[in-house]
This record gives sequence, structure tokens and C-alpha cells, in this order.
Amino acid sequence: MNTRTIKDLSPAEMRGKRALVRVDFNVPFDAAGRVGDDTRIRAAIPTIQALLAAGARVVLFSHLGRPKGKPDLKYTLAPAAPVLAALLGGKVVVTFVPHVVGAAAEAATRSLKDGEVCLLENTRFEAGEETNDAALATGFARLGDFYVNDAFGAAHRAHASTEGVTKHLRPAVAGLLMARELTFLGSALEKPRRPFLAILGGSKISGKIDVIEALLPKVDGILIGGAMACTFYEAMGFETGESLVEDERVDMAADLIERAAFRLTLPHDAMVAPSIAEASEAHAVRRDAIPEGEAMLDIGPESAVSYARAIASAKTIIWNGPMGVFETKPFDAGTMAVAHAMAAATAAGATTIVGGGDSAAAVQAVGLANKMSHVSTGGGASLEFLEGKILPGIAALDQR
Ligand code: 3PG
Repeated sequence: MNTRTIKDLSPAEMRGKRALVRVDFNVPFDAAGRVGDDTRIRAAIPTIQALLAAGARVVLFSHLGRPKGKPDLKYTLAPAAPVLAALLGGKVVVTFVPHVVGAAAEAATRSLKDGEVCLLENTRFEAGEETNDAALATGFARLGDFYVNDAFGAAHRAHASTEGVTKHLRPAVAGLLMARELTFLGSALEKPRRPFLAILGGSKISGKIDVIEALLPKVDGILIGGAMACTFYEAMGFETGESLVEDERVDMAADLIERAAFRLTLPHDAMVAPSIAEASEAHAVRRDAIPEGEAMLDIGPESAVSYARAIASAKTIIWNGPMGVFETKPFDAGTMAVAHAMAAATAAGATTIVGGGDSAAAVQAVGLANKMSHVSTGGGASLEFLEGKILPGIAALDQR
């Protein structure tokens, strides 16, 4: 897929026109109702600035949370507007519009002047958003003169604001963030520099099975971490104690081990404890010696060292999913070891890509996000992309 971007638009297609830009401002909020992590807003800035520089009037719209198709002020996008204004340097007029569609929303977009920005209310306040309702999509299309999708994080959703709207509004092109995501994830899959290594973690094999299947024929190796390793251990006949095991996936895990052969690496040791709350009792054991009554909560120190070594010798590395319960010490050690090894690999010239969601949160928490070649803003979207799926929000855009 060779998707057109805002760079392919002529100046005449942008100057004085309303750019309707789908962003992913699905950001976390703190207890005081303030934006808790502005990464996704920050990530949209280059597109907004490029459109403003081209003389466009920028109309932003996004979902936030899952408000179930009706207005719910718990999910208002209003707090995102001042954050956006500050990130734009305080020099751009940014207005929050408490409507997402209809006459008032349209009037607000038409009263924008060149170089101004407005942020509309949450798209999921409309019942037709998630059902991709044609009438809502038509209503959205009235809010702009051309459409830009910069919401990679929502590109796996065929919603009115990501897919339906493109049936009524052209040009429909990718923003710079979307283009960057497609470049990094796409090139890794299509023409990786080798050795090409994938590191997959997380608690459940069921959520990662499709990505393991899709990556196996492409990669030189897959390193497994997180509690999902235990479903593989069970398939290998090891005692897994109180670890999280998906019984119904054990046969699938056995089949994968056989087919993947040497390309699939499971941790050789594990950090175990009776529970997450009893972290002070954590200790490392060999993978075939997980005690009864204890659970694997991280990969062990030997595995952390050998995974770091594998990362150091790879040229392209994709990482999705933490190695353990990284929110609780000492079960963060495996995830931190991978994060530091990835940062060192980037410095040594490798291409390092961190999938969104938990692994992105982990590299951010240790301040290593800017030491990676690319940290995806999409959790589910990056996983589906790596699974080889065509994402509807991308397929709907103009192709070259
Ligand atoms: C995300 O946070 O992964 C995206 O914003 C998509 O959100 P959703 O899973 O609620 O569609």
C-alpha cells in the first residue's frame, strides 16, 4: 500500500481550506482531570504545523475513551485544547468546540481564519461513530474541505470518523505521524535489515498468536517474555505453579514450538513469587523449577542477559509486550533490560521499533522513548499491522 500524505497535496489544495484532521487524542487523564500523558497530542503537532504553514485552517476531531455513543462529560476532549495550545507554542489560536457534528460544529469550522485551529468534541459522543453510520459520516464531511488521517492508533477501527467520512470527502490523505508509523512498521516487515528479531511479551498467548504466526516466516528469531511464556512451558511439560496459563492454548503452543524450531526462544529462567503483592519474596528459578504455589512474574536474570545479547546482534528489532509485571519492582527487571538493550542497539545503528501500549509505556517510564528509532502511538493498531492485516483507516485513504 502506498498511501498519499499531506506532502502530496498541492499548495492550492490546502491554502485557505479547512483540513479535517482525525487525530488520536485518546490520552490518559490524572485524578484532577488533567491530561496525564501528552505523547499522542505531541505526536500530532508536526502535521498540524505543516498544515498551518501551508495556510490551512485546522479542524481536529478524535475519540476519547469508550463513552458508548452518547455525551458523557467524563470523556470530554476539552482539557486537551490548552495542552495542544501550549504544545503549539502559545502562538496559535486554538478553540475548543463543544460539538462534534451538526450546524454549530460546522459554523465553528467555517468561522476559522487561516492559521487557526479548533478541536471538536469526542466523536464517540455520537452513536453512529462506531457503527460507521453513513449519515454521521456525511455530517463529518461537512466539517472540512479535505480530510487528513493522523490517528494511527485508531486506524484499525472502521468508524465514521476514520473510514466512512472518506466516502464523502476528498482528497483523503495521511498525516505525517500516520506516514511515519507506516514507514517504520512497513519497512520493518517488507525489507528488514537482518538479523531481524521480534520480542513479544504480555500475559496472554491468545492476544499474540496471530502476530507470532505472521512474523514467524519473516523474522530470524522471536524472543518470548511475559506470563505467556508459561503456556509454552506447560506445553513443554514443566510445572508452572500458580502462573497464568491458558489451558485451551497449550496445544497451540506445542504446535508453534514444533513449527518454529530454533526461531522461537523461551526464557530459560523466571522470577517467581507467591503473588505480585509478595514481591519481597521474589527469587529466580530455572524454567523447569517453578515452585508449586508460586507464579512467574518476570523473565529471569539469565534470560535478561541472553535477550540483551540477542538484541545487540540484531539489525532490526520489533518489540511488543512487557517481559513481566513491570509496574511492580523487582518484576520490571526483564522489561528494563530489554528497553536498555534496545536503546544501546539504536545507538549502534540498529532499527528499533516499540509497539504501542504497555511496552511504549515502559520505555517512556524509564525515559528511553527518544532512544528508540520509533515508538508507535498505536497499541491495537500496531499489533494488527504486524499481524499483516489491512487497517481500514489506511485503506480508505488516497493511494498513489
Ligand atoms: C488506543 O488507545 O489503542 C486507540 O486510541 C484506540 O482506542 P479503542 O481501543 O478504544 O478503539
